[in-house]
Amino acid sequence: MKSQQAIDTIIRLARVVSVIFVVVVIFILLGAIHYFRPGFLPKRGEHLTPPGEVITSLWTAPDPAAISDSEEGKSIRYGRDLIIRTSAFIGPSGSLSKKANGMNCQNCHLEAGTKPYGNNFGSVASMYPKFRARSGSFETIERRVNDCFQRSLNGAPLDSSSVEMKSIVAYIRWVGKDVPKGQRAKGSGLPEMKWLSRAADRHMGKINYRKNCSVCHGAEGEGQKNLTDGTYLYPPLSGANSFNTAAGLYRISNFAKYIYANMPHGATYDHPVLTEQESWDIAAYVLSMPRVKKAFIADWPKLETKPVDHPFGPYADNFSEEQHKYGPFAPIEKFYQAQKTN
Ligand code: HEC
Ligand code: HEC
Repeated sequence: MKSQQAIDTIIRLARVVSVIFVVVVIFILLGAIHYFRPGFLPKRGEHLTPPGEVITSLWTAPDPAAISDSEEGKSIRYGRDLIIRTSAFIGPSGSLSKKANGMNCQNCHLEAGTKPYGNNFGSVASMYPKFRARSGSFETIERRVNDCFQRSLNGAPLDSSSVEMKSIVAYIRWVGKDVPKGQRAKGSGLPEMKWLSRAADRHMGKINYRKNCSVCHGAEGEGQKNLTDGTYLYPPLSGANSFNTAAGLYRISNFAKYIYANMPHGATYDHPVLTEQESWDIAAYVLSMPRVKKAFIADWPKLETKPVDHPFGPYADNFSEEQHKYGPFAPIEKFYQAQKTN
């Protein structure tokens, strides 16, 4: 009898062990299927992070689904909507005001100002109020937003106590809420890019513009409108409804950096479509197209603080406006460096 009991126990144990074995094998198989599913592993030659950057420190925006239903949450959501669909509220056919060119903030601050190196708002809350050489003063977020209304949207400034301004600022603060005060998040704003060693070439730019851009933005940079409501499907790059000559994008370095990391639409900083050289040349071509001329007399109170690619004089140097617009920029930079060391 005793030996019969022992045999029964061994058989039971064997069953338990084989069930555990089967379960473990199933888990291993599921794990393998998960690991090798398409897209989980990087493709050969694909960079997940650009050389020298660590993914853990690349800034990502908070999730808009997590915006609360409180009064503050409503304001943040309205602000987000104003960034995405600015022209529905403020623009030629806007419900609140006509005083802007029909562009949306999101046209240049991609994905509601959250796309890495897509001219995002990651470091605005952490860095403002900020001293800016253009105005020679400390600027608040409100002041900076109105800069873009007056220059990029060629419109009128908003009253800083308006619901719209308060909501835009609430949204921008929310986007940057996880970046510690005084720090710049990696991936915020636009990417760094080296100067081109020669002047940017408008003629090469035209050829590459025709290849890469005109299908959406039009042969003359006129953009394309939606047939239904007259808003832009593809925003204009030139003419009466584009950013004016006092806008940030009118500086060739900003334009080249923006398109390198973001255009043609769908390009990203880690999967660019254009080379840096093509970006400079296309920038030169687009910035040679006609657009609204505007100057703010209070800009650049100290001439020597003008960026070397500021396209309008007067300057504290003898280089031409042409060279300040298209380069080569290294000789201008060298001139200012030499002045500093003297
Ligand atoms: C035509 C393109 C364009 C449009 C449209 C535009 N902006 Fe900008 N904006 C820029 C560029 C370029 C910069 C950076 C300029 C620079 O650094 O010199 C900028 C900078 C900013 C900054 C400061 C970012 C920082 O990190 O310092 C804020 C805030 C801002 N824009 C808000 C807005 C808002 C709000 C709107 C809509 C009312 C808007 N912008 C529309 C091009 C645009
Ligand atoms: C497939 C269509 C498409 C192509 C091709 C394309 N873009 Fe864009 N571009 C867009 C869209 C759409 C936006 C606005 C993005 C948004 O609002 O989310 C935009 C925005 C822009 C902006 C900022 C807004 C403005 O109007 O000033 C610039 C500058 C720009 N594109 C330049 C270029 C250049 C230069 C090329 C060629 C290298 C190019 N794009 C190719 C679709 C395109």
